[in-house]
Amino acid sequence: MRKNIVAGNWKMNKTLQEGIILARDLQMALSGKAVNCEVIICPPFIHLASIAAVAGTSIVKIGAQNNADKISGAYTGEVSASMVASTGAQYVILGHSERRAYYGETNAILKEKVKMALVNKLIPIFCIGEILTEREAGKQNKVVETQIRESLFELPVKEFGKIVLAYEPVWAIGTGKTASSAQAQEMHAFIRETIACKYGTVIAEETSILYGGSCNANNAKELFSNPDVDGGLIGGASLSVDTFLPIIEAF
Ligand code: 13P
Repeated sequence: MRKNIVAGNWKMNKTLQEGIILARDLQMALSGKAVNCEVIICPPFIHLASIAAVAGTSIVKIGAQNNADKISGAYTGEVSASMVASTGAQYVILGHSERRAYYGETNAILKEKVKMALVNKLIPIFCIGEILTEREAGKQNKVVETQIRESLFELPVKEFGKIVLAYEPVWAIGTGKTASSAQAQEMHAFIRETIACKYGTVIAEETSILYGGSCNANNAKELFSNPDVDGGLIGGASLSVDTFLPIIEAF
């Protein structure tokens, strides 16, 4: 049975002190509650070790927002997957559209980042999604299929089976514009079918596919009720317990 997951991507928000408070408050809000999904928070790199120490052993799991495509060495400013893993983080977001758009991350670079994550036993939350003009041109399936194929489809089946996917239509990120429930389901079903064609239906059925893009307390329940939507990757609404908790409780 695939996992339902609600993951918070804090992006470049929160000082260390603010982050620790948010992680603690979230942990407290969840303690004693029946939580029906995996809860992950992905703070900036510099907060990982401190937040793993306050929240990482609880029901709240920790993830990074990136890792380097190299093992180690003279790469000033980079953070390797082994460094991320050494903080206690168990997940890593890779291929986020903001990394692709602002930092030039290509499908080929992301292929290396995924390998580094897996070697270090981090679970990649691999993001895919089309920009508005691609959707308007009806090219969204082709774009998403290419992103998956070029970065992930050389992985052996056992390694692919560890990956979580996150469909984030770029036009819905931080815009308040959400894909409709039907648009999300249609794309998630296409992604699952794409995986099934390459790795078979068992692996496809076991792969968690999250939706991201202006997911919030008001729309989470409807989005998550789709058979192929296994949770959410949440940006803005993950920055306070008041807005994040209802999304977790949507399961
Ligand atoms: P928003 O929820 O702020 O739209 O961000 C989505 C996202 O990019 C999560 O990775």
